[in-house]
Amino acid sequence: MPIIVNGSPSPLPDDPRVSLLDFLREYRHLAGTKKGCNQGACGACTVLADGERILSCLALAVQYDGRQVTTIEGLADENGLHPLQQAFIEHDGFQCGYCTPGQICSAIGMAAEAKRGLPSHVSVDLTGAAVLTREEIQERMSGNLCRCGAHNGIVDAIHETFAVDARATETAA
Ligand code: FES
Ligand code: FES
Repeated sequence: MPIIVNGSPSPLPDDPRVSLLDFLREYRHLAGTKKGCNQGACGACTVLADGERILSCLALAVQYDGRQVTTIEGLADENGLHPLQQAFIEHDGFQCGYCTPGQICSAIGMAAEAKRGLPSHVSVDLTGAAVLTREEIQERMSGNLCRCGAHNGIVDAIHETFAVDARATETAA
């Protein structure tokens, strides 16, 4: 089976040693996903696999046979940018932009984790969906580094996009 990247099927590489990151960048020419450390320490390579955030530098492409992989190039739709992409622009959530695709993919996966009730190190209430306070966002996004120091704008953008949604889920639970 192929990997489904941003909705389109892609044949697996012949070489089973190819990382998912290299597959996306070198085979699919989707250069939005960035290679920072290439060893799981910076988060620049974060993509979504069936909606869950993963570090593509630590994954082999063949592991994702038949899975849905979404990169930064797959987030916008016919209505325009994903709301989080728009919020990054409005809140100055980037300078050089190198960490940005990973930050955005990671935040989307993170918000889904919070909605499912997965706690973080700073969570107080362990029942139901987590409320995405700034502290929660900082903790949950701590695997995504920004060398430009745009973290305040990044947290603002994520907070604006997902905090209300998480609170609504909490109230409904
Ligand atoms: S490039 Fe994958 S975590 Fe840094
Ligand atoms: S915007 Fe430059 S590393 Fe984050």
